[in-house]
Amino acid sequence: MKISPKMKKALNDQVALEALASNSYLAMASWCEVTGYQGGADYFYAQSDEERTHMLKVVHYLNDMGSAAGIPAIKAPASSYKSLEGLIKTALKNEQTVTKAIHNMVDIAQKEKDHSTYAFLEWFVNEQVQEETKFETLLQKFDLIGRDKLAINEIDKFLAADAAAPEADPAV
Ligand SMILES: [Fe+2]
Ligand SMILES: [Fe+2]
Repeated sequence: MKISPKMKKALNDQVALEALASNSYLAMASWCEVTGYQGGADYFYAQSDEERTHMLKVVHYLNDMGSAAGIPAIKAPASSYKSLEGLIKTALKNEQTVTKAIHNMVDIAQKEKDHSTYAFLEWFVNEQVQEETKFETLLQKFDLIGRDKLAINEIDKFLAADAAAPEADPAV
């Protein structure tokens, strides 16, 4: 089975995008840790690991298709944030960028009648719905609970609880 050069490039770009997401969540986790948001730190360290597994899925897929994956250099992410809310807003923006890239690959797969890649991407399409909803729900909490110190502490506790809960696999 072969994938087109256009699809190969898009999938390699996705490897870079997932690696960037992993690195960016690692930086967010580290900022949370030094700022005193322990829940946020647990949450974003876990997010960072998750993004690495996404990256590996694409690497394995490319290799399985006989198109050796290119392992990219990763741009340094921002290392400090104005607030926990600002950080989560940035996370949502990252996810929206990833969703666009996934949808673009689905378009290519459909145009090229590349059924293998189309089926491979289905998991990512579902995953992105979950990812965007997760961060949108978190951002709503600031409107619902507030932005004072006690409210942010509550949100941090929520992040801790969420980090401890097992994540549902969108493919199941
Ligand atoms: Fe991802
Ligand atoms: Fe993600």
